[in-house]
Amino acid sequence: MASEIENLALRAARAAGRIHLKRLSRINISRKSNSIDLVTEADREAEAAIIEVIHRAFPTHAILAEESGATAHKSDHQWIVDPLDGTTNFAHGFPQFCVSIAYQHRGRTEFGVVYDALRKECFTARRGHGARLNGKPIHVSTTDSLTTSLLATGFPYDRRERRRFYLCFWEAFMMRCQGVRRTGAAALDLAYVSCSRTDGFWEFGLKAWDVAAGALLVEEAGGRVTNMDGSPLDLHGGNIVASNRRIHAEIVATLDETRPEAERRHAEMLRESHAAA
Ligand code: IPD
Ligand code: CA
Ligand code: CA
Repeated sequence: MASEIENLALRAARAAGRIHLKRLSRINISRKSNSIDLVTEADREAEAAIIEVIHRAFPTHAILAEESGATAHKSDHQWIVDPLDGTTNFAHGFPQFCVSIAYQHRGRTEFGVVYDALRKECFTARRGHGARLNGKPIHVSTTDSLTTSLLATGFPYDRRERRRFYLCFWEAFMMRCQGVRRTGAAALDLAYVSCSRTDGFWEFGLKAWDVAAGALLVEEAGGRVTNMDGSPLDLHGGNIVASNRRIHAEIVATLDETRPEAERRHAEMLRESHAAA
């Protein structure tokens, strides 16, 4: 069963990747929740292809997918799918996007794949069997302090309304590490922690499909993934910290110390905009 699941997930990821490449040169964009939350035909087409591959093999499995939501029926077997992570990058032809597919059994992620079709990089993880990049084992970095680390983050789609809140964390980390990257594809951000291209990642407001596969990649590569207070990750909770494990406590402490000031700046911004209205 395990290898059947893996083969299927890989087949579905490759099908999505082919659609990304085919659609990249002729992108058709529309808007979702607001003017910066985009969806392209590639998102929809890739999702349909993934669902077809899964349902043809396992018609009773449940699927939670970004564009079509959750299947009506429940099952012990659930697939969590982001057909195109990094849609804004994709829509601008910026080369940082991927597909993310996770398989869960009774609520626990057992397999995850994050596939970057442009770079032909396929990150996979199977619970208890490590993480791989194009079949070769990968491990998190050995960086042992925040001061010498490279971090990544992202901003959710309410970033304009809560800009000062999010930027306050950016500022705090900017002062404490060697660099912060905003790459625009959370699943790849997690994959990059797993293969030691970065040492840590934090982001607010993510969805299960952004992080399900990537969280397993980081754990299986020897890293740690938690909620922002350091408690066990709630995939549906939205706020995530991932790291090489060694700098985890420092990232969590920085988030904790920064939060009161971030809340204060957000409240101040709201007062200013009410006063100006
Ligand atoms: C987004 C990307 C981005 C992150 C956003 C996500 P999408 O996913 O992962 O890096 O900052 O919060 O929503 O919309 O491109 O699938
Ligand atoms: Ca996403
Ligand atoms: Ca997406």
